[in-house]
Amino acid sequence: MEPVLEAKKIRKVYGTRSNLYPAINDISFEVAHGEFISVMGPSGAGKSTLLNVLSSIDKPTSGEVKISGVDLFEMKARDLAVFRRDRLGFIFQDYNLLDTMSLKDNITMPLSLSRTPVAEIEERFEKNFAGVWNL
Ligand SMILES: Nc1ncnc2c1ncn2[C@@H]1O[C@H](COP(=O)(O)OP(=O)(O)O)[C@@H](O)[C@H]1O
Ligand SMILES: [Mg+2]
Repeated sequence: MEPVLEAKKIRKVYGTRSNLYPAINDISFEVAHGEFISVMGPSGAGKSTLLNVLSSIDKPTSGEVKISGVDLFEMKARDLAVFRRDRLGFIFQDYNLLDTMSLKDNITMPLSLSRTPVAEIEERFEKNFAGVWNL
């Protein structure tokens, strides 16, 4: 079966010409459907940089990231935004919740952005979250 994620020769260099810092140097790996992986390393090893590149939040200096065979960095910005909204889950170290919105609105925002009918949003929220967290 085709891997769900393919990372090929990823490099990420921060800084400018006189002060270059390679945070990731030539990483390649594949993740199969249903596989569960963790990335470990000391602070500064490049874990966040790698996750940002794999999730299309940041661009690598060179290399390729494919999800289900599609090269993320060949996609148009609009298609990439739809991909992030509909297919990607990402939990940030510092949450990145919008603090002017309720927790429920933060959770359901991707559905609102994709113009899901309000009744369906309510139903899905009730089914998946309300009972669990007593919101
Ligand atoms: N935006 C940036 N500009 C310059 N250097 C950065 C930037 N982000 C991270 N770095 C550097 O890249 C290296 C890897 O950082 P990071 O990916 O945050 O590591 P980790 O998440 O494993 O702690 C560190 O040396 C860090 O200082
Ligand atoms: Mg980090």
